[in-house]
Amino acid sequence: MKNKITLIGAGQIGGTLAHLIALKELGDIILFDVASGIAKGKALDIAQSAPVNGFNVKLSGTDKYEDTKDSDVIIITAGVPRKPGMTRDDLLSINLKIIKEVAEGVKKTSPNAFVICITNPLDVIVMALQKYSNLPTNKVVGMAGILDSSRFIYFLSQELKIPVQKIKSLVLGGHGDSMVAMLDHTFIDGKKIHQCVDEGMISKNKLDEIVNRTKKGGAEIVKYLEKGSAFYAPAASGVEMAESYLKDLKKHLPCAAHINGQYGVKDIYAGVPVVIGKNGVEKIIELKLNKEEENNFKKSIKAVQELFDAAKKIDPTL
Ligand code: APR
Repeated sequence: MKNKITLIGAGQIGGTLAHLIALKELGDIILFDVASGIAKGKALDIAQSAPVNGFNVKLSGTDKYEDTKDSDVIIITAGVPRKPGMTRDDLLSINLKIIKEVAEGVKKTSPNAFVICITNPLDVIVMALQKYSNLPTNKVVGMAGILDSSRFIYFLSQELKIPVQKIKSLVLGGHGDSMVAMLDHTFIDGKKIHQCVDEGMISKNKLDEIVNRTKKGGAEIVKYLEKGSAFYAPAASGVEMAESYLKDLKKHLPCAAHINGQYGVKDIYAGVPVVIGKNGVEKIIELKLNKEEENNFKKSIKAVQELFDAAKKIDPTL
C-alpha cells in the first residue's frame, strides 16, 4: 500500500512540499487548506506535471479533515508567515489558535501519524501541538535544526569555497535568535572549524559574522521577498524528516524534539540531534558540549521556555 501524506497548509511551503514529495514518490499526497481552492489548484497543477516528470503518485486538495483520515505522515505549515520587521514570536497568538484547530483535526482523523510541524514560532507551536493533540511525543516533532544547519553549512561553503558535502555541522536550541551553532561539532573536510581559524582559512570575525547571519537567515529572506518567508529550504528539510520516517532510514537529524531529561532539560521542545526511523523520534542523541556551547544552549532553552510561558498566558489550558 502506498503511504498517505497530508500537508496541512497549502501555501508556499505546503506547495513546495507537495512538489518535492511527488518527485520523490514518497506517497499519495493530500493538500489541506482552509482556502480549499489553493489546495485543489496546487494539487491539480502538480499532478499535471506527472507525465513530464514521470512520477506515479496521486494528489488531491481538500478542506475536510475526513479526507486526510489515516495519514502516515502529516506535515503542518498552516499559519501566517512572517512579514518584514515581524519576529517569529510576533506570530505566536495568531498561529497558536490555528494550531489548536489543526491538532483537534489531526487527533480525530490520524492518531497514528508521524506529525512534523513547520509553523512558527516553531518550538512553542510544536509543543502546543503535542499538548493540544495529546499524541505521543515521539510522533510529534518540529522542523528547524535541519534548515538552520543547512543555512550555516551553505554560508561556510560560500566563504571557504568548499563544497557543502564536505562540511558537517549542527545548529541546535530554539529556532530563533538564540539558536546555537555547535562550533566544536563543525568540521570542514574533516578538520575542526577552530583549527581552520588557527590556520587562517577563516578569521574569527568572519566566522562570528556567519553564525550571526545564520541566526537571521530567515529574516534576510523575508526582507528580500517582502511578502512571505522562505519556503524552498524549509520544505526540503521537512521532506528529509518524512523520508527518514517512512523508509526507516534512522538518520541523525537536528529537530525540535521533546526533551525530557537529556541535556539537563525537562519537558520542553527544542532543537537536538535525534534519530528518526519507523517509530518516529527513536532517540535523542546527547552530544558532549563544551562550556560555551552548553551556556548558549541553556540560554536558548530559556528563551523557548519564556515564549512558552507567554503562550500559556494567551491560552491557560496549555
Ligand atoms: N487550517 C489549514 N490551513 C490554514 C489554516 C488552518 N486553520 N490557517 C491558515 N491556513 C493556511 C493558509 O490559508 C495558507 O495557505 O496556511 C497556509 C500558509 O501558507 P503561507 O501563508 O504561504 O505560509 P508559508 O510560507 O507556507 O509558511 C507557513 O511555516 O515557516 C513557517 O513562519 C512560517 O508559520 C509559517 C508557516
